[in-house]
Amino acid sequence: VNTTDEQQVALERSRRLFRHFARTQCEGRSALYTRLGHGVADDEELLRLLLDAPPSQRRPSLLLASVNHLLGEYRDDPLAAYYPIHGGDREADDQALSPFRAFCRAHRAELRDLLATRNTQTNEVRRCFALRLGLARIAELWPGPVALLEIGASAGLNLALDAYTYRVAGREIGPAGGSSVTLSTVLRGGGGVDGLLGELPEIGYRMGADLDPVDLAADAGAARWLEAFIWPEQVEELAVLRAAVELSKRHRYPMVRADACTDTAALVAEVPGDLPVVVFTASLLSYLDATARTRFVGRLAQAARGRAVAWLFTEAPGLVSRTDVTAPALAGPLRGNGEVYAVGVSLRTRTGRYDEVLALAHPYGEWIAPARERGDDFAWSATELNLPPRQRASGP
Ligand SMILES: C[S@@+](CC[C@H](N)C(=O)[O-])C[C@H]1O[C@@H](n2cnc3c(N)ncnc32)[C@H](O)[C@@H]1O
Repeated sequence: VNTTDEQQVALERSRRLFRHFARTQCEGRSALYTRLGHGVADDEELLRLLLDAPPSQRRPSLLLASVNHLLGEYRDDPLAAYYPIHGGDREADDQALSPFRAFCRAHRAELRDLLATRNTQTNEVRRCFALRLGLARIAELWPGPVALLEIGASAGLNLALDAYTYRVAGREIGPAGGSSVTLSTVLRGGGGVDGLLGELPEIGYRMGADLDPVDLAADAGAARWLEAFIWPEQVEELAVLRAAVELSKRHRYPMVRADACTDTAALVAEVPGDLPVVVFTASLLSYLDATARTRFVGRLAQAARGRAVAWLFTEAPGLVSRTDVTAPALAGPLRGNGEVYAVGVSLRTRTGRYDEVLALAHPYGEWIAPARERGDDFAWSATELNLPPRQRASGP
């Protein structure tokens, strides 16, 4: 295959990714990104930009975030009029692609630099609703304190989960004295809210690990790169992210550079004492290919030979179902689904395993639909949550 053919294959792959992204992640969520996603898919010049990124980073979100990041420095540009987070108030319309293309042309060198050197790196604190739900369930099954280890933790904002206030279905729970961060989500599907607001275990130790940890204290620009992944219309989300960044700087939970595929067992073994270790992953699996996923799950099994380990996940069911986790919810139509996330726990000891899917959730935590009963197969979700027919698993 010569270079031109390779490039053509890469372009076609990017085209498919942009279409998939626009259809499955943007429609109904961002009018501007829906238009830009479909627009880029039809525009070879724009598609070509993504070829500046290393192959593993060629994601629509990386191009859109890079443009968003630069646009923050050029708020007078006509494109900024379409971005409420940059002060714009123009409705997304079929003209939007034209200033987007012009902006990309004008800032080609800066864009190329960002695409070649930066990673897709979000930190969505609303996923803490999933973390809360899972920790409360683990506390029922394994009473007593636990250690919390988030793998793929980005800047580690989820580690401060008990410093945030949670608002759902007209109820609110949070630390005594309040919090500068209030997380809100929508309850869907007819399941109860109690588990979401349940009693958290004492967290005796916490640490975050990431292939590329974001050090908010040492790197003043790091928070701005996280902000680049906030979508144009999400003015409130931007304020929540900024408040969570400030709050987490005060807590400063330790973060280490580590690879889920090779280091998980060692990270668990290094947790002092003998507390059960909750390994939390949120939107990690879509970053791992099939081999890497198998290796990660193998490391969990290895870790569980030494001490009690609970894997708490909010991940695409289409990817969890390809690991060793078994639950009725992962056997039905959700088995191939990459549009929603399954929130679940897999409790592992030297002698046994217990897996349970606790909820389905929007990938970015915009809604959550708890199980209606233990061992729920979520057969009701296809109609009641309006899930699209079976799709290939992917993720943000
Ligand atoms: C979509 S972000 C999710 C961040 C955070 N868990 C959240 O919910 O907001 C995925 C994170 O996984 C990290 N990651 C990707 N591959 C990894 C690996 N093999 N080992 C550890 N972290 C990895 C990325 O650097 C990124 O920070």
